[in-house]
Amino acid sequence: MDSKPVSRRTILQGAAVAGLAGASGFVPTKFAIGNTAKVKVGIMLPYSGTYAGLGEAITNGMKMAIAEKGGKLGGRDIEYVAVDDESDPAKAPENANKLVTGEKVDFVVGTVHSGVAMGMVKVTKQSGTITIIPNAGANAATGPMCSPNIFRTSFSNWQTTFPLGKVAIEKGYKNVVTMTWKYAAGEEMIGAFEEHFTSRGGRIARQILVPFPNVEFQANLTEIAALKPDAVMCFFAGAGALKFVKDYAAAGLKGIPLIGPGFLTDGVLKGQGEAAEGILTTLHYADNLDTPVNKTFRAAYEKQFGKGADVYAVQGYDAGQLLVQSMAAVKGDTSAQPALIAAMEKAEIKSPRGNFTFSKAHNPIQDIYLREVKNGQEMVLGVAQKGLIDPARGCMAV
Ligand code: PHB
Repeated sequence: MDSKPVSRRTILQGAAVAGLAGASGFVPTKFAIGNTAKVKVGIMLPYSGTYAGLGEAITNGMKMAIAEKGGKLGGRDIEYVAVDDESDPAKAPENANKLVTGEKVDFVVGTVHSGVAMGMVKVTKQSGTITIIPNAGANAATGPMCSPNIFRTSFSNWQTTFPLGKVAIEKGYKNVVTMTWKYAAGEEMIGAFEEHFTSRGGRIARQILVPFPNVEFQANLTEIAALKPDAVMCFFAGAGALKFVKDYAAAGLKGIPLIGPGFLTDGVLKGQGEAAEGILTTLHYADNLDTPVNKTFRAAYEKQFGKGADVYAVQGYDAGQLLVQSMAAVKGDTSAQPALIAAMEKAEIKSPRGNFTFSKAHNPIQDIYLREVKNGQEMVLGVAQKGLIDPARGCMAV
């Protein structure tokens, strides 16, 4: 007897073939078979650790977008399979393989952490599984690692802070200290800021790196006090951002302006309270964007989950919208991959952040807003850079 392991899908498809062929002598197409099975959506996100809240918001947003359109993809029911990737890059290939090889998912939606995303994309680029990145900004995912089957509904790390370099110059800052966790996200966000800031005459006085996900900032804050820069530009997110902003204020540093990508306050603003007042950030979203799409989205999210939406919920929501639109275009036929990818490439996403389309490397072309925390609210001061396209440096495959 053949002892090769048989996947559940093989069993389902085999039964469908036997049933239909037996009844009428008709051999159905692959599409007809596939159409009877559930669409398997693999979710690879952090549900523990410093980014747990981000994973939860993305999941909520994605499921909400799909539920709003009837809870199906291209007419097919959905089975979600989720893994907690713990924001641990060392476990990324194994976790991605669990979904791709073990679960044989039709799509992978993941992840938050740039280092984890690199391990995940290596696996899905090779398997050809359509992948939607709902956060991780790793420049390489839409750069050297770009691929026809890889899409991103969030941002590239470069995109979030390139406009901030000019903002800092216009604010009159000449001498800036940068600080971040030492891994791709922070390093690339600071790199893009530095590229723009120094090209206009700014100077980086000192670059402070702390290990991820460390939240012991005291020694660094003492150093910043001694350096007395014009401003501090930094990247932290999730629970780390919550603590950093509070520690910064508690160290008596509020006299030195704090700037950065909007992740510094997004999703954690309430917890930061007074400490966040005056923080100036750039990001592709802001809570109080005055558009009907954003208002409807925020009201629905709050009602369903009992808390306010943030940029992560938006990115998940847009991943859900992309799945809905592209699966409708192929009527649920996941085997029609070139048509599915073409539909994704052509999609126009009516996002709470504002409408966006995808660049050639499959990254959103989007406005980057300038925001400032005033009276506990994230106020939009304007658009720092309109329709910003990630340069996709090193992307040859699409
Ligand atoms: C990332 O690792 O790419 C990352 C994580 C959290 C954020 C933004 C980017 O808020």
